[in-house]
This record gives sequence, C-alpha cells and structure tokens, in this order.
Amino acid sequence: MSKIALVLGGAGNIGSASTKAFLESGGYKTVVITSRSQEKIDKVKEAIKASLGQDSSAKVLGVVGNVANEKASAELLDKVKSAVGDKVDVIISVMGFPYHNFGPLLHVNAEQINDVFGSQFFPAFGGYKTFFPLVKNSSSGAYVSVTGGGPDMYLGPGTAGMTLGGSLSTALAKVIMKEQAQDGVCISEVSFSCGVCPDPSVMPPGYNWLPSVDAGKALVSVATKKVAGGQTITIRTADDLSHVIANGALKQTNGVA
Ligand SMILES: NC(=O)c1ccc[n+]([C@@H]2O[C@H](COP(=O)([O-])OP(=O)(O)OC[C@H]3O[C@@H](n4cnc5c(N)ncnc54)[C@H](OP(=O)(O)O)[C@@H]3O)[C@@H](O)[C@H]2O)c1
Repeated sequence: MSKIALVLGGAGNIGSASTKAFLESGGYKTVVITSRSQEKIDKVKEAIKASLGQDSSAKVLGVVGNVANEKASAELLDKVKSAVGDKVDVIISVMGFPYHNFGPLLHVNAEQINDVFGSQFFPAFGGYKTFFPLVKNSSSGAYVSVTGGGPDMYLGPGTAGMTLGGSLSTALAKVIMKEQAQDGVCISEVSFSCGVCPDPSVMPPGYNWLPSVDAGKALVSVATKKVAGGQTITIRTADDLSHVIANGALKQTNGVA
C-alpha cells in the first residue's frame, strides 16, 4: 500500500468515484484530488468518511486550483509537489464536461463554441501539460484520459456542444497516446459511450446509464493493471464495464482490447 494516485477532477461525478475505488483497492497510501472548489473536496472527503471510514478519508489529499492558464497551472503543480513530491504512480484525467447544449448549431454563436472548447478541451489539455511529466518516464506508471461522446454519439438536436466537446477530448487522448508512445508510462483512454451517473434507476428511460461507482472501479482497474497501453477502451454496456473492472481492458487477449 505504497502508491500515490492523482485524480484530476477528483471532486466530480466520475472523479470522486475513481477516488473511492483507489481507496477500496487497498494499494494506495494517498489519493490526491484536484478541484477548483474546497467545498467540493470537503464533500468528497465526507462521503468517503461515511462509506469507508476516517482512515480512508484521511488518505484523500485535496488540492485547490485550476489549469486555466500557465500561472495557475504552475501554482497547482507546486501545491501537488509540495504535498506528495515529484512523482506519482498513476494519473486519471477526468476534468471538464461540455454540458453546453445551446440548441441547433446553426444558431450557436462563436462565444458559445469557445465555451465548449474551454470547458472540455482546455482542462484536459492543461491537466496533461501540467501533470503528465510526473509519470512520463515511469515504467510502472499509468496515465488514463477519460473521454466520451464525440462524433459517434450525436444525441439529438440541441446537443452539439456535447458532441463537439467530446470530439475534442477524444482527439486529445489519441494524440497523447501517439506522441508519448515511446515513454515508459502506460497511457490509455477510457471512452464512456453511455451516460454515467450516481443512480441510473432514477434516470429517464431511452438511454443507457451506468453507475458512477462502477465507472470509477473500471478506471482504477485500467490504471492499476496497465494491460491497455496505447488503447482506447470504449465502454457502452454494463457487460463492458464488468469486463474492464475485472481485466483492465475490454478483452483479455494479451492486453489487446
Ligand atoms: N457523466 C457522463 O454521463 C459521461 C459520459 C461520457 C463521458 N463522460 C466524460 O467524463 C468526464 C467527467 O464527467 P463527470 O460526469 O465526472 O463530470 P463532472 O461531474 O462535471 O466532473 C468534471 C470535473 O471537471 C472539472 N472541471 C470542469 N470544468 C473545468 C475547468 N474549466 N477547469 C478545471 N476543471 C474543470 C470539475 O472540477 P471542479 O468543479 O471540482 O473544479 C468537475 O468536477 C467528462 O470528460 C465527460 O466527457 C461523462
């Protein structure tokens, strides 16, 4: 139980589930979570205390900051380094979400499109640029980008913001896997081609929702087993999710998902 995990966006829906799963796995002494909000970090720690106990909650180290620009990113990196040093074992990047659904694209203005870019692509890019060096040369390390949607998941009129934002995040994850392919670290993308929420039973019918808690377990399995380097793992169904939780990849064929 000596490893350190860093969850970028660890106070969000999937990020907090990943934090819990790291602690439940038993292999991590510290889980660092970043958020722009101390209040959100406190809520995650309270929820973990309620479900796993005070010892687990004490292992969650919240760091407040953002990656909106170079200065803010450098400050956030400094805070993380002064808390845990120069090296972490695994990073899950789950920052940003293109919630913007502005209506038909023909009526969307340039400012709104910039918001999509700023809320989905930029946090993921800033997180990568700032924190990837902490795992870059680690042959035992892992970097997992969480994505979703994109060009294959157009939900309906008015939801272009999610499609466009998802496209940017999946493109970024693929570029990272190509450009850093020669580094020692294991780099993977997990793309949720479905909804992920705390309680699928209360969600409206007609769309496939999977529980956040299991999404978190799947991400931790990918980051810990490290059999899916250079691969995009697309999760569509509960069966996919179960398989990834168990194997760290979609199919257990010598690491080829
Ligand atoms: N939930 C789904 O149904 C679903 C489905 C497919 C794919 N995904 C993908 O999974 C990822 C996370 O989803 P989620 O449901 O966990 O979303 P979420 O609860 O909104 O969490 C996203 C986190 O990103 C951080 N964030 C947002 N904008 C940011 C910014 N400009 N700068 C820095 N941090 C920012 C927020 O952190 P703070 O507010 O704490 O700072 C937030 O906690 C997204 O990339 C999404 O595309 C989700």
